[in-house]
Amino acid sequence: MKKIAIINGPNLDRLGQREPEIYGRATLADLEQALRAEIAGQPVELEFFQSNHEGAIIDRISSLADRKFSGLIINGAALTHTSVALRDALLGAGLPAVEVHISNIYRREEFRQRSLTAPACLAVITGLGLEGYHAALRFLLKR
Ligand code: DQA
Repeated sequence: MKKIAIINGPNLDRLGQREPEIYGRATLADLEQALRAEIAGQPVELEFFQSNHEGAIIDRISSLADRKFSGLIINGAALTHTSVALRDALLGAGLPAVEVHISNIYRREEFRQRSLTAPACLAVITGLGLEGYHAALRFLLKR
């Protein structure tokens, strides 16, 4: 049984309502439903977590190795660009991680074009919309 965590950072609880021209109309619940549908019938467990609080996200990431997770998908949202603590948590967890961004961060403001967390991840997917989470999940399940 593979266990994969899908962790979303600040303001992604407002997906569907927040800047839909950038992030689309689908909600986080829609994403969860679509990812669960994708793994239906497979020996895979998905755990979804969203928080607007940096410390809560770090606590969750730190718990994953002890709880025998095989990998994680992280959209750190704005924390991507600011948080050394999030980067350290990813490195400390020592699990294969894929960083996902719904928008293409390289087509946006300069401050979004730097990711402090990407070096702590195996791969980064940016600009594929919610499809990025599906691609990340398939990648982690094939490893
Ligand atoms: C985001 C991009 C970040 O720059 C932004 O702060 C977000 C969402 C994305 O998924 O495109 O909140 O991570």
